[in-house]
Amino acid sequence: MMSTVPFVIVATVTVIVATVSGKESSRHEILRGHQIWQLSNDVGDVPLEVMQKGLLDVLGHFGTSKKVRVPFHCLEEAQRLLQEKGVSREILVEDLATFLEDHERLSKRLTSIGKSFENRDLWMVHVRPNDPSDSEEAGAVWIEAGIHAREWISPAVALHILKELVQDNGSIGNFDVYVVPMANPDGYNYSFTSDRLWRKNRRITSQPGCGGVDLNRNWDFHYGVGASENECSEVYRGSEPFSEPETKALRDAMTKVKDQLKVVMSLHSYGQQLLYPWGYTKHKTAPDTSDLIARGKVFADAAKSVHNTVYKVVNSAGDLYKASGATDDWAKGVLGVKYTYTLELRDEGMSGFNLDPSHIVPCSEEVWEGLKALLYEISKE
Ligand SMILES: *[C@@H]1O[C@H](CO)[C@@H](O)[C@H](O)[C@H]1NC(C)=O
Ligand SMILES: *[C@@H]1O[C@H](CO)[C@@H](O)[C@H](O)[C@H]1NC(C)=O
Ligand SMILES: [Zn+2]
Repeated sequence: MMSTVPFVIVATVTVIVATVSGKESSRHEILRGHQIWQLSNDVGDVPLEVMQKGLLDVLGHFGTSKKVRVPFHCLEEAQRLLQEKGVSREILVEDLATFLEDHERLSKRLTSIGKSFENRDLWMVHVRPNDPSDSEEAGAVWIEAGIHAREWISPAVALHILKELVQDNGSIGNFDVYVVPMANPDGYNYSFTSDRLWRKNRRITSQPGCGGVDLNRNWDFHYGVGASENECSEVYRGSEPFSEPETKALRDAMTKVKDQLKVVMSLHSYGQQLLYPWGYTKHKTAPDTSDLIARGKVFADAAKSVHNTVYKVVNSAGDLYKASGATDDWAKGVLGVKYTYTLELRDEGMSGFNLDPSHIVPCSEEVWEGLKALLYEISKE
């Protein structure tokens, strides 16, 4: 499988995604029903004898692996002959065609959309509905997590949502879903190794000791409002819009699917608030605000029903503080996506960023319920 994936979180993603099954037509039909067997240790020349009868295929050098491939129509005969000679077997792969198809699907879903400043991959997972023929009409959902390094609950919840998504049987309608579980891998890494409260990426700036750009101030929509030109600031906006490799990669990947996008949700912490645009001004109301609020309440009600956690539906600038250059404002203002939100996850501030890991599962459960309800409502439009 994807053993070269360098990032702990993404290793988890591959495991989750590997559970997906599908039914596309296949170029592996010829191997349908073929099996891979592991033979018992002291097999001597037996497998070679059986191979000479044309009943199996010895894989690799027999001194080490003792694996054989057995064609579908030879399964019984090969098993009988081996048994006669006292060789036992364990089935490693039940159906080679399915095995190869799963592997291909997996490698197609986990795409790197670019590299971070320190050259880590930015992974995106594309989850398709059971019936992909309907998805063009239904549209797509974009979920971004981990853009702020210290908000550890965000990528954790994104992974749980991903797991739910790949197991989902259409309860969210026929949406395609794109998930970027870790938008700022350098900062995330640094928040583990060096500074638990690190927020920005790891850009090297002109001022020693003041590294990093706030990736959620670097998007090009009313750039600069509520952000800082000062490299030492936690909300340093960068040298120019999209100066950072991480935001460029996100922008390009989102732009590719912009005609499909109906919902963009950016996961942050903390505060338990579902924020709707605009973030850059208090004085203008974003288009579709009443729908954004109404659907937002659907999210909040469904989320509350799980563990009684309250998520407030609020306007970014009006109820919080002005901030521009964020994912949600850009997705709405530039791409024209109708529903764009920033979700501030648990908690309300007791533990803040240093949330106990025991919150991961319940928080994921309530967010998944909220998201399902939200998407179901939107799918009916
Ligand atoms: C989805 O459908 C499959 C097959 O019908 C079933 O085994 C599985 O439990 C269902 N999953 C959910 C989450 O309902
Ligand atoms: C941080 O990055 C280094 C270098 O890539 C890696 O060896 C280490 O495992 C990472 N640590 C965490 C916690 O991600
Ligand atoms: Zn944040």
